[in-house]
Amino acid sequence: MRTTLAQTLGIRVGLLQSGMGGVAGPDLACAVSEAGAAGCAGGYKLAGEALSAMLKRLVAGTDRPVGVNLIPEVVGPDELDRQLGQVLDETPQHVYLSLFGMADDAVLDRITGAGRRLVVQIGTVQDGVRAAERGAIVVAQGTEAGGHLLGTSHRDDLVAELRALLPTVPLVAAGGIGSPDEAARAIAAGADGVLLGTAFVVARESMAHPQFKTAVCTSGEADTVISDVYEIGWPGRRHRVLATDVTRNPDQPKNFIGRTVVEGKPYVVPRFSAAVPTVTTSGRIGEMAMYCGLSCGAISDELPAAEIVAGFARVLPGAHAVGTEIAEDSHGKL
Ligand SMILES: Cc1cc2nc3c(=O)[nH]c(=O)nc-3n(C[C@H](O)[C@H](O)[C@H](O)COP(=O)(O)O)c2cc1C
Repeated sequence: MRTTLAQTLGIRVGLLQSGMGGVAGPDLACAVSEAGAAGCAGGYKLAGEALSAMLKRLVAGTDRPVGVNLIPEVVGPDELDRQLGQVLDETPQHVYLSLFGMADDAVLDRITGAGRRLVVQIGTVQDGVRAAERGAIVVAQGTEAGGHLLGTSHRDDLVAELRALLPTVPLVAAGGIGSPDEAARAIAAGADGVLLGTAFVVARESMAHPQFKTAVCTSGEADTVISDVYEIGWPGRRHRVLATDVTRNPDQPKNFIGRTVVEGKPYVVPRFSAAVPTVTTSGRIGEMAMYCGLSCGAISDELPAAEIVAGFARVLPGAHAVGTEIAEDSHGKL
């Protein structure tokens, strides 16, 4: 029998909010979880006291299932080990771990061995099968996705291929989902839940810079490009971004084009930085990395996160919609 995303995580709506570094903080993650889906805060490069401060706010904000996203290839094995240790030590069991891209088996086993639910986003069939073998909820990312791209397949092709190989695992579709109709297409391809990134960039609780939110709301599919120019801080991956002067003309100097603040600490932003513009960023916002999926074509307004979740809920399988196998929310709030 198939175990769905909603059952596995103990949520009402089979929807994951991407733990987008810089954009998805505790406010957004908790609002999504309180609305019945699964929120997630971006861990990105946070470490030490900055990570602890973020985790404290996350844990204080909800007692429903909520996640922390880490990116193994950005921080490397030693820093990942430290970040993971902090998350496991400083958060209770209802906080799940979300990884962007595969990690070593030992990392995956450490998470599941600690009794935590594990979500792994992948871009290939091979990685999806490996993640499922380690007990993960598998998120299949297609090239329609905003941000860094893990593979070369279209979303629903990857979902269908994985569903054929993994008939019983929780399988989530990611990439280009900005409307309930598009979510329904991913479910029809074999997913039992969806992960949304761009749709939550424009959430009221998101930390994306207002100019970034407006750009997402006013852009269509043709305004996005797949590029590898935003490589400072995260080299070697292609990403789908809004086209900018920088993607159009990559032969520009790598000088500083802005300033930002992360968990109270100031940083300068060089042109070609992989960091997204946030509410604390100033400078040439329109030249910065504005990750954006094909989903932007269906997104036109800034909305509270709860309204975004409610809009998708009617097409998504929830814990109540899976026959007699209704999952008990660990906090009795189903
Ligand atoms: C602004 C932005 C930042 C992102 N940052 C992360 C991240 O830090 N970690 C992660 O797992 N995925 C990240 N992603 C990728 C998403 O997890 C997901 O693949 C993508 O958003 C799905 O496509 P969509 O944007 O069309 O919904 C990001 C996406 C966007 C749009």
